[in-house]
Amino acid sequence: MLTAPGQTDTRIAQLRARRVWDSRGRPTLEAEVTLADGSTGRAMAPAGASRGSREALELRDGGTRLGGLDVTLAVAGVNGEIAALLRGMDAADQAGIDAAMIARDGTPAKARLGGNAIVATSLAVLQAAAAARGLPLWQHLAAGDPVSLPLPEIQIFGGGAHAGRRVDIQDFMVMPLGAASFAQALEMTAEVYGAAGALMQAAGKRQGVADEGGYWPVFAANDEALGMLVRAIEHAGLHPGRDMAISLDIAASEFGEGGRYRLGLETRELDTAQLIDLLGGWLDAYPIVSIEDPLAEDDEAGMVEFTRRFGHRVQIIGDDYLVTAAARIDHAAALPACNCALIKPNQAGTVSETRAALAAARRAGWATVISARSGETEDVAIAHLAVGWNAGQLKVGSFARSERMAKWNECLRIEEALGARARFAGRAALAID
Ligand code: PGA
Ligand code: ZN
Repeated sequence: MLTAPGQTDTRIAQLRARRVWDSRGRPTLEAEVTLADGSTGRAMAPAGASRGSREALELRDGGTRLGGLDVTLAVAGVNGEIAALLRGMDAADQAGIDAAMIARDGTPAKARLGGNAIVATSLAVLQAAAAARGLPLWQHLAAGDPVSLPLPEIQIFGGGAHAGRRVDIQDFMVMPLGAASFAQALEMTAEVYGAAGALMQAAGKRQGVADEGGYWPVFAANDEALGMLVRAIEHAGLHPGRDMAISLDIAASEFGEGGRYRLGLETRELDTAQLIDLLGGWLDAYPIVSIEDPLAEDDEAGMVEFTRRFGHRVQIIGDDYLVTAAARIDHAAALPACNCALIKPNQAGTVSETRAALAAARRAGWATVISARSGETEDVAIAHLAVGWNAGQLKVGSFARSERMAKWNECLRIEEALGARARFAGRAALAID
């Protein structure tokens, strides 16, 4: 490829990876790409704890050292095989680069080179391509199309796999529907997070923070958390439902299989119909606007039934069930099951597949939520994906811990950079009216 004067040479000159550490103190990898023109891009792989069984697989060393979680094999794969493959390729050709890595890996779930190695490389290439154009990532991705600051989905209490199963439901979150801007959305959230902490403290139910920074609660029942959340919204001077609504990630695959659900805080084992009734009761009693993975990933009939009963009035997000896979979203949309897709780049494994999943959700007329993982880093790329792809919603955990706040704060910078052109996706981003 020849480059004319004033043009950048976006061929990949160097790719390397290093081991870094995530927000749980576990090893992960960072990829760093340098282009022929000197532009660079960096990205780190996040890690989930309540993963869908069809996600791209992480390559971990195994054995006893570091709990088997070390990534020396994944790092070596980037520095060796993947670097040799990509050297000389054009970083502006994201689709070509991602396809090359997928083909070289050769397994259905990226098990050989590792979804962690591939996603970090894919995102680093994307960052380098943006840097070569001298553009912030969101602007590079938008390619002139309309953008918006996402409606945030912010965790107040953590549970499930992120809090030693102290409470069954994984995420008790809020969504600032009454905000007029992203900045205002965060200010409202700060008041609720503070109020919730004070109420928990006063009730003797605050034990620290869970993996994503929400309070680690001591509740006797799952719906006690919902009542506490409503009170926190009121204590913050906000109207529950109108100004600040509730959003739940049930993460039902964590406690259910084969249509049987074992909730530690409920007294009985529930079947699919009983779990749907329990959740339906919560939808009637509390200002809940969004619910993720209400049934387990293997309970498609349950997802269809839940969507039939409640899809007209609540956003139903598929996470473990859809695993950021365009084909699974197409399949679910035809049933229909869900009306919104959670979009996690490391579930898909490449930027291109992540983008394809987003496009599939959009084709279906669904809403989309760009999402972090419970194991995160200071990498803020997903904030840019949410804005640049105009995804509408962003979920990165709570309102504490800097691996979370880094993403919220990055959105503030983008909103400021957009100035008068900034548009907050707000309530209209939900899958319901
Ligand atoms: P994770 O879960 O622990 O797999 O990142 C987050 C989620 O279920 O949304
Ligand atoms: Zn989830």
